[in-house]
Amino acid sequence: MKFFVDTADVKEIREISDYGLLDGVTTNPSLVKKAGRPFKDIIAEICDITDGPVSAEVAALDYDTMLAEGRTLAKIAKNVVVKVPLTLDGLKTCRTLAEEGTPSNVTLCFSANQALLAAKAGAAYISPFLGRLDDIGAEGVALIREIRTIYDNYAFDTQILAASIRSPLHVTAVALAGADVATVPAAVIKSLVKHPLTDKGIEQFVADWKATGQSIL
Ligand code: E4P
Repeated sequence: MKFFVDTADVKEIREISDYGLLDGVTTNPSLVKKAGRPFKDIIAEICDITDGPVSAEVAALDYDTMLAEGRTLAKIAKNVVVKVPLTLDGLKTCRTLAEEGTPSNVTLCFSANQALLAAKAGAAYISPFLGRLDDIGAEGVALIREIRTIYDNYAFDTQILAASIRSPLHVTAVALAGADVATVPAAVIKSLVKHPLTDKGIEQFVADWKATGQSIL
């Protein structure tokens, strides 16, 4: 499973990239608002850090404007993926962009039927939002499993990009469910390394090594 980092904070992206854990990036309007910087500058900087797919979301809701925005965003760098909402106009934009050779990430997916439509529209990625489903008492990971089955049944090559991931448990769950990609906040990616027995073991080894009085270098 690939790891995308879900942020518009260039410093965080650089840090995850330096650890060798970065396969791509997703942004959204809320993350851009949080970053507080010009959107197109942010996307250009992120594309300088990684050759992996970088999702940049359109702001409009009608087909003509979404398409114009998508074409503009795609010109920023060759690895830009245009993020469009899961609406009829969004799917139409996705289809046109696909015909032009520009990949789309269809976002705000909350049902298997929506995912089916996105695949039929030629989406490169579908983004089911796990955490937001959990927030309303649904089982987010069940949606990932359903989409996996449907895409495998019909050999769709749209990649399942598990989004709205909030915890290490979510990461394990979507990996078990067969997501192609998980887009994860930087803090959650870093927390995946944590285990109390690892910390305890390191503490013991450090103490025992010190007691040997030896040095490797
Ligand atoms: C995905 O592309 C979205 O940017 C993101 O995962 C949404 O996460 P949230 O529900 O925690 O805002």
